[in-house]
Amino acid sequence: MITIKVFESYDEMSAYAAEIVKEVINSTEKPVIGLATGTSPIGLYEKLIEMYKNNQVDFSQVTSINLDEYVGLPDDHPQSYHYFMNEYLFKHINIKKENVFVPNGIADDMEQECKDYDRRLRDLGYADIQILGIGANGHIGFNEPNVNMNTNTNICNLTPETIKANSRFFDSIDEVPKQGITLGLEGIFKAKKIVLVANGFSKAEVCKSFADEYVTTQVPASLLKLHKDIVVCLDKEAASLL
Ligand code: F6R
Repeated sequence: MITIKVFESYDEMSAYAAEIVKEVINSTEKPVIGLATGTSPIGLYEKLIEMYKNNQVDFSQVTSINLDEYVGLPDDHPQSYHYFMNEYLFKHINIKKENVFVPNGIADDMEQECKDYDRRLRDLGYADIQILGIGANGHIGFNEPNVNMNTNTNICNLTPETIKANSRFFDSIDEVPKQGITLGLEGIFKAKKIVLVANGFSKAEVCKSFADEYVTTQVPASLLKLHKDIVVCLDKEAASLL
């Protein structure tokens, strides 16, 4: 079932989403949380850090498993998702290093890395909660619009739209990796709960697909309507075309 919540501001949206994550962590013995990168969840992570500092949440028993990573970027590259997670969350909280998983974008054998990542997620029993953003083209993780979509962790070619959107973080568009490694639909859908955050007018058009009655792999996020427990948190700009 999909629940859509609209907020006056990015800050209110982030606070609400962080509350949901906090409750899952606090009510689960060994919580597994699925994490996303990108600008959308930065506010949510800031709220979680604040909660941690106020002793409202403890990450010592948490295992995190990230959605995706660029292929070809080492962990210490400032635009890698490893680096992002460290900067915006991990280094501020008491999560154990050995309980943090982000796909390895520079593995010698990327096919094997995909298989290992799926096995790890299965062994963990999938996420208790998965945090998601959404691309303006509807992608989730790096699962881009396509006729066929992959159920497993996979190596995918980024679309020109995604390369362009992500070039804002790189010195030039030529530096943006052309491929990503991403959880597939199964890894995302098996999460017990999903919280998706989206803000700004650039997401308004794609967010319409949360409110209509169709699903299409041309807008991967539209499939999320089939999940049994998803909360979509939008600021009023992202919700402006609903
Ligand atoms: C990142 C990810 C992507 C982003 C999406 C939106 O881990 O999974 O699907 O959520 O590209 O990015 P932002 O939040 O930067 O607009």
